[in-house]
Amino acid sequence: MNNRLVELKNITKSFGNVNALNNVSMEINKPEIVGLIGDNGAGKSTLIKILSGVYAPDSGEIFLHGKQVEGHWSVARAHAAGIETVYQDRALCVQHTIALNIFMGREITGAFGLVKVRKQYEEAERLMREIGFTSRVFTPDSVVATLSGGERQGVAIARALYFEAELLILDEPTNALSLTETQKVYSFMLAAKDKGSSVVFISHNIYHAYDIADRFIILDRGTVVMQVDKSEVESAERLVQHMKDFARAGHAS
Ligand SMILES: Nc1ncnc2c1ncn2[C@@H]1O[C@H](COP(=O)(O)OP(=O)(O)O)[C@@H](O)[C@H]1O
Ligand SMILES: [Mg+2]
Repeated sequence: MNNRLVELKNITKSFGNVNALNNVSMEINKPEIVGLIGDNGAGKSTLIKILSGVYAPDSGEIFLHGKQVEGHWSVARAHAAGIETVYQDRALCVQHTIALNIFMGREITGAFGLVKVRKQYEEAERLMREIGFTSRVFTPDSVVATLSGGERQGVAIARALYFEAELLILDEPTNALSLTETQKVYSFMLAAKDKGSSVVFISHNIYHAYDIADRFIILDRGTVVMQVDKSEVESAERLVQHMKDFARAGHAS
């Protein structure tokens, strides 16, 4: 398919005797929001860490734009390919400003390697507007600790967008967020999609992902049990029922 961005084929990964992923195959198209759903321990984080170059799979293949990745896939190569991941277990530096967080580790520098603080401020301001920071209270100089949970996710998303992510991966971004805050994260995701990025939104709760996702990939104990377009699903309740049916069939065999 010509709008295929990423394809994973038969990815397997074990940690000691824990079989985290068994022959996982999945696709991500462009642009779309994919809900990657599964219970705690299903293998969601492991899967996206493989795609992001953090872990090497024990076996399996990664394709980008239809071309198989050759040699050692790494975080640096994933970045270079436009894959930006916001990890659930790696927060922003909350004592620093929004602008510093957006450019941390990848500062805009001029001659002699000096950081262009003014330029970073302007770019951060533009990004904040583009992704829909509505509160005028915040400027690029606001300290992240003063932001709400949803707005912090927004900073992480802005950072990814500055680096023109083709694929933005958010690992459980709405955990522990209120409904209002979750809505903010949704609007940031939609802004990213409008700008042409594909988004993988990881959640352990189908209801959290249902409204926002165009497609669902369901992981159950290291196995993809379902990939389905939202247009093929009648409701979140029906999708949950399908998942339960699959789980029961799995237990029976
Ligand atoms: N670095 C690791 N070392 C050992 N076991 C791990 C490691 N990472 C994940 N696991 C195990 O792999 C399984 C899948 O974990 P994970 O991918 O974090 O699931 P999820 O993100 O869906 O909650 C779990 O049983 C977990 O304990
Ligand atoms: Mg996880």
